Amino acid sequence: MSKVYDIGVLPGDGIGDEVVREALKVLDAIQSVHGFATKREHLPYGAEHFLKTGETMPDVAFDRIRQMHAVLFGAIGDPRIEVGKLEFAIIAGMRHKLDLYVNLRPVKLYHESMCPLKGKTPADIDIVFLRENTEDAYAGIHGTTKKDTDFEIALQQMVYTARGTERIIRHAFETAVKRGPKPGKEKPQVTLIDKANAVRAQDIWTRIFAKVAKEYPGVATDHAYIDAACMWMIKNPDWFDVCVTTNLFGDIITDLGAMLIGGMGIASSGNIHPGKVSMFEGIHGSAPKYKGTDKASPLATILSMGLMLDHVGQPAAAKELEATVASLIQTGRIRSLKAGDHKCSELGSMVRDEFLARAKVRA
Ligand code: IPM
Ligand code: MN
Repeated sequence: MSKVYDIGVLPGDGIGDEVVREALKVLDAIQSVHGFATKREHLPYGAEHFLKTGETMPDVAFDRIRQMHAVLFGAIGDPRIEVGKLEFAIIAGMRHKLDLYVNLRPVKLYHESMCPLKGKTPADIDIVFLRENTEDAYAGIHGTTKKDTDFEIALQQMVYTARGTERIIRHAFETAVKRGPKPGKEKPQVTLIDKANAVRAQDIWTRIFAKVAKEYPGVATDHAYIDAACMWMIKNPDWFDVCVTTNLFGDIITDLGAMLIGGMGIASSGNIHPGKVSMFEGIHGSAPKYKGTDKASPLATILSMGLMLDHVGQPAAAKELEATVASLIQTGRIRSLKAGDHKCSELGSMVRDEFLARAKVRA
């Protein structure tokens, strides 16, 4: 009997609909080749749903999702709604309520034509970012007093717990062990990225990183402050292998990383609790101006769907999907990821057709 996975499909706002539609089109093809099935349940949350019902994401939705294997997510954000309201309720809502403490963000260059840096090739850019996903400035502890006066005080707490810090650092070392050394290296490497010289509370990261590292003698370690890490990302991205960092710095540096590999149109992510239901999304936003125009790249969502397949237990399908996208880029069939250079639907069909063609060759 073939395996059936329960997948929540949450397209959300803006371009969410079209990029998720393309990812599902590719998923149909993958299922037919790899012999598994999905039961898909539409989750209607986002701006339209909120405007109609006043509801962001209700508890019953989280209860449903807890019964699933994974959620495939499009994007959230709509100019008609107060900044951050839906993002916090839905994206951060899932991250926090489902305890998705790993934000996996691969930064991998498939072809030098996709990189704006002079002379950088795929051999130079193959990084896995592991962003802590439940704490830091995202813990939701903030407030403002004496608003709109000269004496206004605005506060937001950066929160780091021993448990929260240790589990993401441990996951980074485990990821490094699984990945193995990069070509030409003896050991895989984990780099801790923080700002412990200024944000002294991040000393907890320094200490826990050193403690966990002792358990992994087969993994090399490195450290960079976030400001320097941004510089090295441009100057010597090949120095990085697995990187572990705090929630806010991880948010920022992975946008920078996205630009090194072709832009937001190809940057994928997984919000993961190992062994439990997890959520997968492109790291881009909802790009409202492109909604319904068939111009946005669906590759970020398609590759995120690949991370989802790996998570639910279809690693061969995941690997083959990534190889398919890589081959389309390497052979110049996908020329650019700039909005409109290829149609959204065209890119989805290209990936689907190439996936099927490669399967035929193997058969
Ligand atoms: C991301 C996004 C979110 C974040 C926003 C929409 C809250 O930028 O997933 O990177 O800051 O985490
Ligand atoms: Mn972001």
